[in-house]
Amino acid sequence: MTQDRAQHTAPVLAVEGLTLWLAGENRISGLSFNINAGERVCLLGASGSGKSLTAKAITGTAPARADLRGSIRVNGLEVCGKPPVSRCSYSRVATVFQDSSTALNPLMTIGKQLRLALPVASVQELLAMLDAVGLGDIAQLMARYPAELSGGQRQRLCLALAMQSSSSLLLADEPTTALDVLTQHQVLQVMQTAYSASPTRALLFITHDIAVAAQLCERALVMENGVLVESAPMAQLLRHPQHPYSRQLVHAARQADASHQNHAALRGVTV
Ligand SMILES: Nc1ncnc2c1ncn2[C@@H]1O[C@H](COP(=O)(O)OP(=O)(O)OP(=O)(O)O)[C@@H](O)[C@H]1O
Ligand SMILES: [Mg+2]
Repeated sequence: MTQDRAQHTAPVLAVEGLTLWLAGENRISGLSFNINAGERVCLLGASGSGKSLTAKAITGTAPARADLRGSIRVNGLEVCGKPPVSRCSYSRVATVFQDSSTALNPLMTIGKQLRLALPVASVQELLAMLDAVGLGDIAQLMARYPAELSGGQRQRLCLALAMQSSSSLLLADEPTTALDVLTQHQVLQVMQTAYSASPTRALLFITHDIAVAAQLCERALVMENGVLVESAPMAQLLRHPQHPYSRQLVHAARQADASHQNHAALRGVTV
């Protein structure tokens, strides 16, 4: 098979036997999963379970001292251990990192860095995307420095930038944690619209919040202590979680939902 043909038939992301050691500790152990074109997949797990390290391994931003083993193929091209700059455009992953404060240049206004980074046509598309995620006052936004934005504004800016890229895979690590519930809902809808309509773009959405993941993703991967413990369609995970940690996640989400309905009932609101 030619390399071109292999790239077109390969999953957008194929992780096989990924193992990561850091400071003498095994943080990811034998992780294997695929994401196909057009899929929206979430990676769930408790704090410290290895979700962000998995994201960093995929994007080539794991700490330099990390010992990485296994294979990570993006559109059929091996990228394990390769830094983002060494990758060809076909194997680049659009990324929203958990810490949005380091994603933008702190010394330039937002407008200036966008003008330098994007062609004029893309800036127009980005403005529409910013509007869709609720960052409507564009003139004010463009004049500001990153430190002058709230965490939630920075998160939405980074997400809009990543979504607007032509990459076939978006990896979003907790991209809505700094948002209030209404804005979060709005942003999830924008993501849903952008990714469910596309047969070629895929999404890996990292979160510890199964309720948020259920709004957006059709398949779920569950990690515990650096190990993949469950992989299932989202509907199946919600109805019949198999692993004890998955059961805890689903149970906690059901309790939170019941308590939300109780609060709403107290206020006389129908949910
Ligand atoms: N640069 C680092 N140096 C040493 N240990 C690290 C480093 N980054 C992460 N770790 C450790 O690796 C483990 C996994 O971290 P990771 O950031 O992947 O967790 P996570 O699942 O993303 O958690 P959270 O939901 O809190 O973001 C944790 O025990 C963490 O302390
Ligand atoms: Mg994390």
